[in-house]
Amino acid sequence: MWKSAIEDAMEKTKKNIQRFGVRFPHVSVNDKYELNDNEDWTNGFWSGMLWLCYEYSGDEAYRDAARLTVKSFKHRIEEHIVLDHHDIGFLYTLSSQAQWILERDEEARELTLQAADVLLRRFREKGQYIQAWGQAGDEKHGGRMIIDCLLNLPLLFWAYQQTDDERYYKVAIKQADQSRRYLVRGDDSSYHTFVFNEETGEALGGATHQGYTNGSTWARGQAWGIYGFALAYRYTGNKAYLDTAKRMAAYFLSKLPEDDVAYWDFDVQVEEGTYRDSSASAITAAGLLELMSHLDDNDPDRAEFERKLNLSMTSLVRHYSTMGEEAEGLLKHGSYYVRGNTAPDDFMIWGDYFYLEALMRMEKGIKGYWYE
Ligand code: GLY
Repeated sequence: MWKSAIEDAMEKTKKNIQRFGVRFPHVSVNDKYELNDNEDWTNGFWSGMLWLCYEYSGDEAYRDAARLTVKSFKHRIEEHIVLDHHDIGFLYTLSSQAQWILERDEEARELTLQAADVLLRRFREKGQYIQAWGQAGDEKHGGRMIIDCLLNLPLLFWAYQQTDDERYYKVAIKQADQSRRYLVRGDDSSYHTFVFNEETGEALGGATHQGYTNGSTWARGQAWGIYGFALAYRYTGNKAYLDTAKRMAAYFLSKLPEDDVAYWDFDVQVEEGTYRDSSASAITAAGLLELMSHLDDNDPDRAEFERKLNLSMTSLVRHYSTMGEEAEGLLKHGSYYVRGNTAPDDFMIWGDYFYLEALMRMEKGIKGYWYE
């Protein structure tokens, strides 16, 4: 089944190359992807899908399209287009770093290092965190860190490996440590964001942005935590990160409904029509594959992780994917920002990316571009 799902996804991606041209998909409106000119946090996912399809098939049409996206990312950094946020890893890990990994292209490596510098500059000494959004001193967001940022840390870890410059490593582990301390709660659930007093560094409290309430657990935030801590373990060997990834995964899996795909928030009252977030389940599937790669065969949690991974992926392919349908997106029923009524039940390009990454890892051991 995985193979057919991949083939279907690659066919759609090839059609999308023609449809999208030099523009980038974000989330869908009425089943059609909204396109932009590489000015959102999501643009790397389209690049990443193209690189995955190229790596899987060797078909140069995907490679040529992927290379074009990297040119666009070069322009973006030169002009500093919408880069005052933490999502620099999502953008450059899956575009230029992927090109470096697959093609050993020096320019792509340089571009990725430049991107790591942009992310590094977001570290705030007082509170010891990477600022989520806006510029230093931003009245609303100057003191905010965010769980999603864990997936941006591989960019810093990779830059450290490339350069031996310890600044990248120190900031990455500080952010991971602060995330464990302030974003992950005692019961292994998580806050979406946490706010410090930017001036003094005083820890103020957890707050949501896309979740149901400040104290609830936004499903996608939990998913970012699972994958992000598993990757932080890969880069550091720090068992505390592995333990956190396992605990967050167990929490996520324990909250799944009968069809093994998450509702958008684990604390929302489930009733007829409550939105899912298929993208959170796709991220978790990819994260579980990474997590399981670090567990011994006799690890007591391994079998259950594997069982749930298979159930979730089977459910995604059978009941959430567009396999066999004419469609632009791969994965239906993602939610971007339910309370804001922004794409609450749509295709999301990151859902498509992680779904494809997970499928390819299961089928062919192709693991994505978060590390070399
Ligand atoms: N990183 C933003 C989101 O997951 O919606």
